Amino acid sequence: DFITFLLVLSSILWTCAVYLTSKSSKTRKSARLPPGPNPWPIIGNILELGPKPHQSLAKLSRKHGPLMSLKLGSITTVVVSSPEFAKTILQTHDLACSSRSIPHAIEVLNHDKISMAWIPANSKWRKLRRICKEQMFSVSSLDASQGLRKEKLQKLHEYVSGCCKAGQALNIGEAAFTTTLNLMSATLFSVEFAQFGSDSLQEMKDVVWGVMKYVGMPNLADYFPILKRADPQGIFRQSKFYFERLLEIFDRIIDERLESRASGVSEEKKDMVEALLDFYQRDEISRDDINHLLLNLFVAGTDTTAGTVEWAMTELIRHPKKMSRIRDELRDIIGENGQLQESEISRLPYLHAVVKETFRLHPAAPFLVPHKAEADVEIDCYVVPKNAKILVNVWASGRDPNIWPDADLFMPERFLDHNEIDYRGNDFELIPFGAGRRICPGLPLAHRMVHLMLATLIRDFGWKLGNGQKAEELDMSEKFGLSLQKAIPLNLLPMKP
Ligand code: HEM
Repeated sequence: DFITFLLVLSSILWTCAVYLTSKSSKTRKSARLPPGPNPWPIIGNILELGPKPHQSLAKLSRKHGPLMSLKLGSITTVVVSSPEFAKTILQTHDLACSSRSIPHAIEVLNHDKISMAWIPANSKWRKLRRICKEQMFSVSSLDASQGLRKEKLQKLHEYVSGCCKAGQALNIGEAAFTTTLNLMSATLFSVEFAQFGSDSLQEMKDVVWGVMKYVGMPNLADYFPILKRADPQGIFRQSKFYFERLLEIFDRIIDERLESRASGVSEEKKDMVEALLDFYQRDEISRDDINHLLLNLFVAGTDTTAGTVEWAMTELIRHPKKMSRIRDELRDIIGENGQLQESEISRLPYLHAVVKETFRLHPAAPFLVPHKAEADVEIDCYVVPKNAKILVNVWASGRDPNIWPDADLFMPERFLDHNEIDYRGNDFELIPFGAGRRICPGLPLAHRMVHLMLATLIRDFGWKLGNGQKAEELDMSEKFGLSLQKAIPLNLLPMKP
């Protein structure tokens, strides 16, 4: 009868699954893949990812080891969860592991073939990185753009003062996002995109977060490339929508600049678009190169920086004494009045320790940006096979109790005792910006922005949670995407300290 038929069918399927799983375990051994959980037929280990893959994979790595292999659908994926193996991948085998594993959501409008963040580390990539470094991130260009940051930080200060006078709580992530958004748009195109609390801010936030969300979202079409055409979750369509909206904005700005250049009445603007148009008019880069590079810088720079500030403030509201210690340090260095100068950041060891501790516990990109092996890479007795996707789980090594005593506690003081550990890509236990040739080019700018924003928020204001909420009850959940955001926004009431 039907029940017996179902029982027989399910036991046949079960036997097949067990057979295929044990077969794949033998295949793993013969291919010398790093250890890992046995994959299910067809789907592999997809189900093990869960809604927070950085946490699930950290847990799996504790069982299978810091160099672990998985099958995500048809894609071999290697997960690295220790500083030693991160160093092996990002330093020893830097070149062989410097390409990107491309999510389907990035293939929209050929972004994967044009943009600096996703093309392989070839000569075109080197040229774009050099331009960015010279025009935006070198010490001299950063020093030259200090005035811009001062102006935007002043606006942040005024906004917080206004909320303080009105006894009104503010969304810290949103305030930090507005500041970074305007900083980025001013540096790139001499434009201010959004006012605090405005509709245009919400719109820009939606677009930037939309890109981050759909690019970071687990996508069946990535695990089974055969499904790309069908786009079963609609991720490609959504991603295209957000990419188009950003590129339209950049296109309009570039058109205007080219028109005013052609008419000879262009006023002298010293921003990134002008610098890029010089390269364009010398035929060194194309218009598409400019558009997609602007998109990279804009998206990569805003959410990451603002999210870091929100996490730092979240930790500090739970540790008020540490917040006061920062305030005291700031007052010692800059006094009661005046703004922090960028040259003074290096004289703030405690604030710097707080930033490091925030990066340790809340790295903005928990898997960096996924790398890909360009060739078979031998590590100890294992092989990371050509085309494998490589995830460096910096979230996991940041919370590893074998590396960090009291790993789950927020203790900036640990970096006062070991202040030689920094996040510039040489100390592999702390690499929130990555390391090696693909390290985040925006690191020097992000370093300044995060310190400056925290100093602006903390020196002149005390903070408390609204609605009688207790700090120890604060929700610390994370929202996984390409960047790791706080799931529930942090709303705080500013006060006179
Ligand atoms: C790449 C982190 C801010 C632009 C990356 C990567 C990480 C990262 C982990 C990938 C590294 C790798 O592949 O190994 C961060 C964090 C930031 C931040 C934590 C702030 C707290 C910025 C800023 C900009 C920027 C302010 C630019 C204005 C980029 C670009 C790439 C990148 C263009 C791609 C580079 C390439 O593939 O060659 N970032 N970033 N980032 N970041 Fe950042």
